[in-house]
Amino acid sequence: MSFAQIFRTADATVPVAAAPALKVVVVSGSLQPPSKTRALLDRVVGQLATQRNIETTVIDLAEVGSTIATVTNRKTISPEIEALYGAVEEADLLIVGSPIYKGSYSGLFKHFFDLIAPTALSGVPVVLVGTGGSDRHALALEHQFRPLFGFFNAITLPTTVYAIESDFAAGTLTSTAVEDRVTRVVGEVLAVTPAALHRDRRASLRLAATA
Ligand SMILES: Cc1cc2nc3c(=O)[nH]c(=O)nc-3n(C[C@H](O)[C@H](O)[C@H](O)COP(=O)(O)O)c2cc1C
Repeated sequence: MSFAQIFRTADATVPVAAAPALKVVVVSGSLQPPSKTRALLDRVVGQLATQRNIETTVIDLAEVGSTIATVTNRKTISPEIEALYGAVEEADLLIVGSPIYKGSYSGLFKHFFDLIAPTALSGVPVVLVGTGGSDRHALALEHQFRPLFGFFNAITLPTTVYAIESDFAAGTLTSTAVEDRVTRVVGEVLAVTPAALHRDRRASLRLAATA
């Protein structure tokens, strides 16, 4: 079965309650609450939750970033923070987002992933989310975020979700264009995480590799 076929064999018909829970980990790279990035990530999770039984862990760097900032070695990390890294490395799906800072993800977002083992995300589907001050930096998701997860051999999903200030009202997403992209990427998540496969996420990679 090819990667393209995996995309076509979406198992969206499995009832939400019947499918085993998909372990979803959200990483938000904003340093300041309230965060538009976090609001957008929550929107993706919210829409996915209507279609799939998920178990979500949220790692918000606005909350834990100052602790992580000083760590350079996983061996010296506190058990609480190590548990967050463990959750990322055991995830069936990552939904990651950052504000655009100087044309890229925040420095703390990169530092968080610097401490992930190089092979730990191989074959893991990743949804890429970003917010910026203008549309001019929307493609940072393609030329900054996507290569970072390419390093890990993760499977970044084709549709990225990017929003700017005017796409929100009182902290809530109001743009139908952005909402459409959320819908599209949720469809891609359902396609690459069929209920029968997601317990062994690398099974989908093996299928792709042997096609
Ligand atoms: C230090 C800093 C650098 C920024 N650099 C950019 C940039 O290069 N391009 C851009 O579009 N927006 C830039 N912005 C704006 C933020 O990306 C934007 O306000 C974002 O939505 C904030 O997300 P948050 O609410 O999740 O923190 C920058 C903001 C800060 C604070």
